[in-house]
Amino acid sequence: MIRYGPARIARALYRRLLRLTPFLEEKIRCDAFPRPQFAYGIYLAARQAKALGYDGFSAIEFGVAGGNGLIAMERIATEIGRSMGLTISVYGFDTGQGMPPAVDYRDAPFIWSAGQFKMDFALLQSRLDHATLVIDDVQAGVQTFLNTMKAAPIGFISFDMDYYSSTTKALAICDAPHQRFLPRPIFYFDDIVGDDDELHCEFIGELLAIREFNDAHAAMKIAQIHGLETKRAYRDHWHVKTFVLHRFDHPRYCEFAGRDQNWQMPLEQV
Ligand SMILES: C[S@@+](CC[C@H](N)C(=O)[O-])C[C@H]1O[C@@H](n2cnc3c(N)ncnc32)[C@H](O)[C@@H]1O
Repeated sequence: MIRYGPARIARALYRRLLRLTPFLEEKIRCDAFPRPQFAYGIYLAARQAKALGYDGFSAIEFGVAGGNGLIAMERIATEIGRSMGLTISVYGFDTGQGMPPAVDYRDAPFIWSAGQFKMDFALLQSRLDHATLVIDDVQAGVQTFLNTMKAAPIGFISFDMDYYSSTTKALAICDAPHQRFLPRPIFYFDDIVGDDDELHCEFIGELLAIREFNDAHAAMKIAQIHGLETKRAYRDHWHVKTFVLHRFDHPRYCEFAGRDQNWQMPLEQV
């Protein structure tokens, strides 16, 4: 049961008011953006890009459906980009025709079915401001993106194609050369916590795709941000769904990207 106590109502009102302000850090801290998981990930990527001197980066949504997520991502990218002096380009990948048939039990067909989540392409295209749609099966779409689109390095990806098979194909983008990525892009996996009926585990779905990816890549690991939930103002499902792709061999992985390279901790005066 959802409870609407005074504290919850006050928080919701504060978030609504915050949305009207330019206070980006406070908006990120309080999850004021619709889809705070995108805002947090894109903001982290933006800080990394700024620290390393990039002009901008790409943010991707794998699995667009009607397009509500992509529109939210586009707005967040615009606001964070403007506030931080970066160009953040947005790409959405989808069949355009909804879910393909499941390949086998690893796609959890007890949750998802062919034909769910169809897109109205013309309507979505008319509502988008600057995002690019890549309409194809994701395996071909990734190749089109890598071979024909001069995209800025990838800084953020939301994986929301539900199936193990589709997520595995989407993860193949990580095998592109390092210059196509920031050293530590932020990844969000939507389908690792779901409704009670979904029963996610490491033997099916996105969690299996992540495990197999890590097993197959010695110099790249997809890892959760340890303890993320302990440093957020409000508890939310997306904390456990937020990961980083560590590209250990990326030529810029070891460059300092913190806030103060001359961080000191002098002994206090007595
Ligand atoms: C749950 S929906 C995405 C919802 C969307 N991210 C949102 O938040 O509004 C999953 C989408 O993944 C797409 N998809 C699944 N497998 C795919 C594949 N192999 N290639 C391309 N798109 C795929 C489906 O067409 C569907 O629209």
